[in-house]
Amino acid sequence: MKLDLLGDRQRTHFCGDLRQSHAGQTVFLAGWVARRRDLGNLIFLDLRDHTGITQVVCNREVSPEAHDKAEEVRAEYVVGVEGEVVLRAPDTVNAQIPAGEVEVKAKTLLLLNEAKTPPFPIEDEIKTVEETRLRYRYLDLRRGKMQKIIRLRHRASLAVREHMSANGFIEVETPFMTRSTPEGARDFLVPSRIHHGHFYALPQSPQLFKQLLMIAGCDRYFQIVRCFRDEDFRADRQAEFTQIDIEMAFPQRDVLFDVIEQLMEKLFALVDVKVDRPFPRLAYDTAMEKYGSDKPHLGFDLAWKRVNLPDGAGEKLHIMQPLKALRVPGWESASRSQLDKLQDLARANLADWFSYIKVSGNEIHSPLDKIIGGEAVRALANSVEAAAGDLVLLVSLKSSSVTRQALQRLDAASGELRLELARRRELIKPGTWSFLWVVDFPMFEYDEKEKRFGAMHHPFTSPREEDLDKLESDPASLKARAYDLVLNGSEIGGGSIRIHRQDIQKRVFDALSLTPEKARERFGFFLDALESGTPPHGGIALGFDRIIALMAGESSIREVIAFPKTASAVDLMCDAPATVDPEQLEELGLSIKN
Ligand code: AMO
Repeated sequence: MKLDLLGDRQRTHFCGDLRQSHAGQTVFLAGWVARRRDLGNLIFLDLRDHTGITQVVCNREVSPEAHDKAEEVRAEYVVGVEGEVVLRAPDTVNAQIPAGEVEVKAKTLLLLNEAKTPPFPIEDEIKTVEETRLRYRYLDLRRGKMQKIIRLRHRASLAVREHMSANGFIEVETPFMTRSTPEGARDFLVPSRIHHGHFYALPQSPQLFKQLLMIAGCDRYFQIVRCFRDEDFRADRQAEFTQIDIEMAFPQRDVLFDVIEQLMEKLFALVDVKVDRPFPRLAYDTAMEKYGSDKPHLGFDLAWKRVNLPDGAGEKLHIMQPLKALRVPGWESASRSQLDKLQDLARANLADWFSYIKVSGNEIHSPLDKIIGGEAVRALANSVEAAAGDLVLLVSLKSSSVTRQALQRLDAASGELRLELARRRELIKPGTWSFLWVVDFPMFEYDEKEKRFGAMHHPFTSPREEDLDKLESDPASLKARAYDLVLNGSEIGGGSIRIHRQDIQKRVFDALSLTPEKARERFGFFLDALESGTPPHGGIALGFDRIIALMAGESSIREVIAFPKTASAVDLMCDAPATVDPEQLEELGLSIKN
C-alpha cells in the first residue's frame, strides 16, 4: 500500500469538536479509523482521536481518489481527511456521540499509516482479560475510556500544584537513588558500578528528605512523587506508585487538615462531586471498636459494640468477654444459609465464636436460648437497642484470656463482617463520598515474631506530648500524633507530626530496640541534621493513584496508571524485570546464584 505524507498540513479541529455550527466549513481532521462500512459507492469511516468520533463519508462521485483509498483502509489505520462539514439527515443523526449531528464529506484522504489487526476492539466496553490489555497497553490506552482517565489524572495533578502553591507550598524534587527509607516495606535496590557491593535504594517515600527540607528552611514543601515499595501487590498497591507528598514547618494539625480538605474539595469538583467539609475525625480505638477497621467506611450505619454477658452466662459459653454485638436493622428474615455464610466468614477471619439473635415482634430467638436462657439473650439484644424485625450478630473468641492480640483479631473479623453485611444488604448508596480522619493511632505495634515493638507509622512520628512520660514505662499505651485520611473505606493518605528533638528521637529509638549504633548506621545523616536547629514540623502523603481511582470510579489503581505492573510486579508490555548481559553483571561486580 502506498502511504501519503502529512506534509505541512495541520488539523483544524479534533474529531469530537464538530457541531451543527461547523456546517459548510472545510476542515482537516486526522486520527484512527474506528470502523469502516462499505456501501459500494459510499464508504463510511468513523474517525477517532482522543476527543471522540466523527463520521467521514467517502463518496465516489465527490472524490474518486478518496473513495479508492478508503477501500484499502482497515481498523486502526491512521488517516487524514480534508472535507466539508455537512449536516446529517435527521434519520441518520447519531445521538450517542457529540459530533453525531454532522459528518465530513471527504475531498482528500491521506493514508498516513497502516496497522496490524488489534488484539481487541478499541472501544469503551471490552471483555478482554487484563493481561492482554496490559501487554498491548498502547492500544488499551487508545480507548476513549482510558483517555478520559489519563486526562482526568493530568487535570488532577494540575489542581494539586495550583492548590499547594497557592497555600505557600513549593515543589522540590528529591532523589530516587538514595538510602533505605523507613516505611516498613522491602526496598528496591540499584547496584553501584563504581562502588562494588554498594547499593542505592529507591525511596519508599521521600520521608527523610522532606524532613531535611524543613530543617533547611523550606517551610512548606510538596511533591507529586513516585515511591517504590517491594511488598505484596493488590488492587490498591503497586510496586511504584505516586504520592502527593507534603510537609510543613511549625505545623498545626488543623491547618494541615484544612489544606488537605480543600484540596479534596477541588479534586472531586473535577468529577462533579461536592465534598462535605470539615471531615469527621475518629480516634483509632473507636474506629477499631465500632467498625473493626482503621479505615472504616462510614457511608453506612452499622456499628459494633463491645458488650458483656450477664453474670454467669459467660462461663457457660467459654468465650472471651466482652464479646462484640452488631444490630442489623430489619434483617430478622436472614436465612439459615445466609447466617452460615457469615459464620464461615467470621471463622475465616479467625473469630471462632459466632452467634445471632432474631427479634420477631415481641419474641426473641437465638441458638443461645438453650445455653444461657431467654433472659440473658434479651439483655444482650437490649444492649444494642435491637427492635422488632432486627437481627443481632455476635462474635467472640473461644478463649477466656483477653490479650491485645485477641482483641485485634476480633476487631478485624468484626470489620470484615460489617463490610460483607453492607454488600449483602446493599447499604452503600451510589454517590456516597465518606471522608474521614482517623487520629490518635497507637505509637507502637508489638511484633510477635521479633518480640519487640515496631513503629506503627514510622520511627520519626511524634508521640502525643501528654503521653511522653509513659514512653519507657508503658509503650503499648502510647498514642502517636499520626493521622490517616480515609475515603469510602480506602486509606488515601497518612501522616504525622514528627519528632523534632534529638532527645525524644533517641528515646523512641530505644523503645523500638534500635541501638544507637544501628540508628546511626541507618539514619546517621538524619540524626546529625536533627541537631542542627530542627523546627517543629509535620506532614502527610496522599496516595495519588488511589484518589484518582476513586474519582474515576475504578476499583483497581491499575486502571488509572498509564503503564502499571501486574499483581506479581511484572510489566507485561516491556517484559520487565528481565535478565541482563553477563558483561553488565561483571561491571557491577555481581553474580547470580544458580
Ligand atoms: P504511607 O506509607 O501511609 O505514608 O503512604 C501514604 C499513602 O500512600 C498510598 N500508598 C500506596 N499507594 C499505592 N501503592 C502502594 N504500594 C502504596 N503504599 C502507600 C496510600 C497511603 O495512605 N512518608 C509517609 C507519609 C508521611 O508520614 O508524611 C508515608 O509514605 O494511600
